[in-house]
Amino acid sequence: MVVQVLGDQERFKLDRDDDALFYAEPRYVHHLDGAFRARLTALYRQRIPPCAVVLDLMSSWVSHLPPDVSYERVIGHGLNQQELEANPRLDQRWIQNLNQDQRLPLDDGSVDVSLIVAGWQYLQQPEAIAAELWRITRPGGALIVSFSNRMFFQKAPQVWTDGGDRDHLDYVARVLVAQGWPVPEILAETTRAEGPLGWLGGKGDPFFAVIASRPLTASLPLQTR
Ligand SMILES: C[S@@+](CC[C@H](N)C(=O)[O-])C[C@H]1O[C@@H](n2cnc3c(N)ncnc32)[C@H](O)[C@@H]1O
Repeated sequence: MVVQVLGDQERFKLDRDDDALFYAEPRYVHHLDGAFRARLTALYRQRIPPCAVVLDLMSSWVSHLPPDVSYERVIGHGLNQQELEANPRLDQRWIQNLNQDQRLPLDDGSVDVSLIVAGWQYLQQPEAIAAELWRITRPGGALIVSFSNRMFFQKAPQVWTDGGDRDHLDYVARVLVAQGWPVPEILAETTRAEGPLGWLGGKGDPFFAVIASRPLTASLPLQTR
């Protein structure tokens, strides 16, 4: 069962056209700076066991995984076929507009770690996606949602455009917990800009992550006497 957290107004976004139109042309650009990406790759190295089945939901031509680590399989999802085909980490891929259809075409408990990078902020039905991620995650598996402080403003629902960084972290956690995920771990960090700017104390994109784990054992129902 999906527990709704948002009201209709909070799901509203300025650009109401089909999201597939917005992503119709491939963009081989980085949406996050090098400092953010380096921090994310370090986190993945730490948290994703080699040989895991990994799902990169809302992906593009990059997955930010450590290049020297092999996984059992990396499944990619997104809105642009050409971008996904250019992503060297993906073993399989599919296209699906998650604001139209939230059912993920993956079996129960078939994924060890799911990733969403700079994508959650575009979800209009995040509750159903969080419930689906719970369904497909193996016990002992995890979900890592990461983002910074930018967005395509016209494509983000009001719940995101109206909030600040702290609100975004609370909101993602709230949606996950409502679908039965345990209270997630939150990372909120500054980064140092790459190169000479960083040596002079310049900052990179701020790094935020919500890390939720699916426990190994489901809680047992209370015993009846
Ligand atoms: C800012 S890009 C981030 C891409 C990638 N995760 C990265 O790190 O470069 C946002 C991504 O969210 C995904 N996305 C946005 N709206 C979507 C929707 N309605 N349905 C499915 N995916 C969507 C697309 O894959 C798009 O590339």
